[in-house]
Amino acid sequence: MAVRETIEFDLELVDRLIADEEAALAPKHAKSIAYRETAAEHVAGGVASSWQSAPPHAIYVDRGEGSHVWDIDGNEYVDYHLGYGAMAVGHAHPKVVEAIERRARLGTHFAQPTTQLHEVGENLSDRFGLPLWRFCNSGTEATLEAVRLMRANTGRDLIVKIEGTYHGHHDSLMFSVAPDPELIGDRRNPFTVPQAMGIPETFSKLVRVVPFNDLGEAERAFAEHEGQIAGMIVEPAMMNCGVVLPQPGYLQGLLELCHRNGAYLAFDEVKTGATLAYGGAVEVFGVQPDIVCLAKAIGGGVPCGAIGATTELFGPVLRGDHDIAGTFNGNPLTMAASRAVLFDVLTPDAYVRLNEIDRQLKEGIRPIIDRYHLPAYVTGVGAKGSITYSATEVREYRDTIGIPENVSYLAWLMQQNRGVFKSPWAKMETWTLSVVHSDEDAKRYVDNFEEFAAAVAG
Ligand SMILES: Cc1ncc(COP(=O)(O)O)c(C=O)c1O
Repeated sequence: MAVRETIEFDLELVDRLIADEEAALAPKHAKSIAYRETAAEHVAGGVASSWQSAPPHAIYVDRGEGSHVWDIDGNEYVDYHLGYGAMAVGHAHPKVVEAIERRARLGTHFAQPTTQLHEVGENLSDRFGLPLWRFCNSGTEATLEAVRLMRANTGRDLIVKIEGTYHGHHDSLMFSVAPDPELIGDRRNPFTVPQAMGIPETFSKLVRVVPFNDLGEAERAFAEHEGQIAGMIVEPAMMNCGVVLPQPGYLQGLLELCHRNGAYLAFDEVKTGATLAYGGAVEVFGVQPDIVCLAKAIGGGVPCGAIGATTELFGPVLRGDHDIAGTFNGNPLTMAASRAVLFDVLTPDAYVRLNEIDRQLKEGIRPIIDRYHLPAYVTGVGAKGSITYSATEVREYRDTIGIPENVSYLAWLMQQNRGVFKSPWAKMETWTLSVVHSDEDAKRYVDNFEEFAAAVAG
C-alpha cells in the first residue's frame, strides 16, 4: 500500500458527532425502541440473537424488496446488511419466492430425502471442486461437521484456527473470535480465548490459534504439535476484521503444510461462498481445500448449510461408521430455495453485476478518502467489501486492535440516518451487495460516506 499523508481522527469531535447522530436516530426508531420493551416481556432481551441488540438499539424490520428494506417505523433503506450476507439475491427475489411457494404447497418437511439433492449437490461440486456434499441448517452446523470429519479421519483431536475469525457458536471453535487484547498473549503462541461463557476449559486445549497471513507461524504450530493436528479451518478471506485478503501463496502454503503433516484443510466459506465469485474463494484464490463449509447466500434467505469434502473425508460416513444427521438436513423448502438461488439467480453473469457495483463503490469511496486525507482504505471482492479505518493495511486480527471503535460507529450511524442499512454495528463489519443493487444504491452509500468524511475531517 502506497504511503500517503493522513490526518489523525479527532476522537472528541467524533464523540460529539456520535451524540448528534444518536439523537437524530432515536426518534426515527420510536416504534422499534418501544416494541423491544414489549418483546422483552417474554423473549430474552427482546431479540432473537444477541447481536441484534448492538448499539444504539435493536431495529425491527418490517419487509424487504430487492435491495431495499423498511423498518417498523416506516423508514426505507438500501440494504447492505442483507441478513449478514444471506440475501445476495436481494429480498423477495421472484425466482426464489416462486420456488418456495411451489414447494410449500407440496409439503415442507418429511425428514426423508427428496429429489432436489442431486441437482444442488452437483451445482456445488461444479462451483467448489469437491465431489460430495451433505446439507444442514446453519454455518455453525457446517463447521461443526467439518471439525468432526477432520477428527474422525485422523484420530487426532487438535484443530488449528485463525485468531479473529468466527466459525459459528459451537464449543469446538468458539475461541479467539474477537478476543480482548489483554487476554491474547504472545503472537507466537496466542492464548485460546473462549468467546462465550459456559465453554468447558478443556475444550480450549483442543484448539491452537495462529495469526492470519503468516505461514511461518502456522508451520511452527504444526512443528510444536507434530502428529497431533487433525486439521486447520480458515476463512480464506477474513470477514470479521473488515475484509482481509490472503497474501499471495498463503492458502496454498497452508494446504501443503496440512497435507505434509497428515492433516486436512477446511475453508469456512459461510460468508465468502457464492458471494466473492461463482466458485467463492476456491475460485478467486485458486486453492482447492479438502473441505468447504457453506451457508448464508446459498439458501437465499431460508435456514441452510452445506459441507463439501473429498470422498476420502466422507469415508467414515459412506461406510456407516460416522453419522452426519439432523431432522431438517436437506429440508425440501431449503433445497427448493437453494436450487433457485444456485441455478436461476447467482449464475455466472450475476458476478459481472456484483463486480460492477463493487467497482462503483470503491471508485466512489477511494477519491473521498484521498481528498480528506483519512487514515482509511476500501477493499473487497465481488459482493463483500469494507472500509477499514487504518492508514496501514490490516493483515491479521492484531492489526485491528488500535483502530478506534467510535470512528466506525459514527460511520454506521451516519449511514443509518441517511437511508443505508448496515449489519448491526461491530467494529470491523463488512458490507454485502446483492445482484439487484442499483447504481443509485451505490451512489447513496458513496454520498453518505462523503458527508462522514467531511464531518470527521472537521
Ligand atoms: C465465517 C462464518 N462461519 C460460520 C458462521 C456461522 O453461521 P450461522 O450463523 O449460520 O450459524 C458465520 C456467521 O456469521 C460466519 O461468518
